[in-house]
Amino acid sequence: MVIKCSTLVKTTLALLIPLTKLYRNDLISRLRSMMNLRLRNVYILPTVILLCLLLGLFSHFSQVFPQGKLTPAYTNQKLMNCDARQRLPSCIIIGTPKSGTKALLEFIGVHPAVAVAEGEPKFFHRDDNYQKGMNYYVEKMPLSCPDQITMEKSPEYFYSDKAPFRIHKMNRTIKLILIVKNPVDRSISEYIHRRTHHSGKEAKHSFEEIVYDDKTQKLNVGYYPIAKSVYYRYLIRWLQYFPLNQIHVADGSKLIVDPQEELLKVQDFLGLKRLISRDNFIYNNTRGFYCLLINSESKCLPPNKGHRNVSTSKVIAKEMTKYFKPYNDMFFQLIKRNLSWT
Ligand SMILES: *[C@@H]1O[C@H](CO)[C@@H](O)[C@H](O)[C@H]1NC(C)=O
Ligand SMILES: *[C@@H]1O[C@H](CO)[C@@H](O)[C@H](O)[C@H]1NC(C)=O
Ligand SMILES: *[C@@H]1O[C@H](CO)[C@@H](O)[C@H](O)[C@H]1NC(C)=O
Ligand SMILES: *[C@@H]1O[C@H](CO)[C@@H](O)[C@H](O)[C@H]1NC(C)=O
Repeated sequence: MVIKCSTLVKTTLALLIPLTKLYRNDLISRLRSMMNLRLRNVYILPTVILLCLLLGLFSHFSQVFPQGKLTPAYTNQKLMNCDARQRLPSCIIIGTPKSGTKALLEFIGVHPAVAVAEGEPKFFHRDDNYQKGMNYYVEKMPLSCPDQITMEKSPEYFYSDKAPFRIHKMNRTIKLILIVKNPVDRSISEYIHRRTHHSGKEAKHSFEEIVYDDKTQKLNVGYYPIAKSVYYRYLIRWLQYFPLNQIHVADGSKLIVDPQEELLKVQDFLGLKRLISRDNFIYNNTRGFYCLLINSESKCLPPNKGHRNVSTSKVIAKEMTKYFKPYNDMFFQLIKRNLSWT
């Protein structure tokens, strides 16, 4: 409820002026009353001013404090009361696939100051989409209020050599989030994903058969899911366009076991109030991962998402860990931070 001060002053004056006129017509006989009225007039103005100040303060804080509500209903109501439009994103989750991009977007999307796009726009890395222009892109965005942060995620941006330049061209101060999982787990997750969704060699061969040659005892490092887990190679391209402080690196392996901690970091990075906290997550035993808890209702990701129990033979896991180690170190040096895996 926002009551404008000017409206209040107008209403008060409108009531007051006829009243004074009435008394003026009856000047002599009502002299005493008029004196009283004048005396009261002296108090009316400061009272109005004080009321205005109080109302101003009230409406100011009533706009600030309802942010504490993590409900879809609140967000809908908010959209009805603002200049709701589709806006270009001011934050993009740029990668990586199978690292929790969807979970991260869903989790941060419950923050009332964030509006998230559905699906993956896949705009900046695909020439066919990019050529459709910015109007096409904006149409992929959700309705948002002017004070909200619009976000989208398209995990293949990270690997594109054109996406950094194109995103920079759109907004060079944009905030980017990169979520990365332990590269051993990410490689296996991508293998499983390919086996489920494509009919390539993954359909016929096990992970071990594809990534490890028993005879030569060598890792097939050219296998795309493995090559795509050497994160530093791709990050350097982004750092040519964006300073590190514009890129937040979230730990996908930690998001699975400790989502609250990762969400606090993302809220801080986006300059948001820390509204999403420990109380908003509940571990679901059946699913094997955390679900959101809002207004004592739990909201889980679709069943095809989330943490699968990925595992491979000890020998291969050890070989892969050894292979990734120097690249991980280079990646950690680039981002000036160590993540939960080595
Ligand atoms: C660019 O991104 C920054 C950071 O999120 C944001 O504050 C700004 O409004 C964006 N500019 C435009 C034109 O969208
Ligand atoms: C856990 O997940 C299962 C399967 O999606 C669902 O049926 C159940 O309601 C969830 N439990 C809680 C406490 O959220
Ligand atoms: C997950 O894999 C580990 C071994 O890698 C095994 O000990 C554990 O029982 C598995 N959990 C489930 C739920 O399959
Ligand atoms: C990361 O860990 C390495 C040791 O593995 C250490 O030398 C380095 O100082 C750490 N870096 C940061 C930023 O904490």
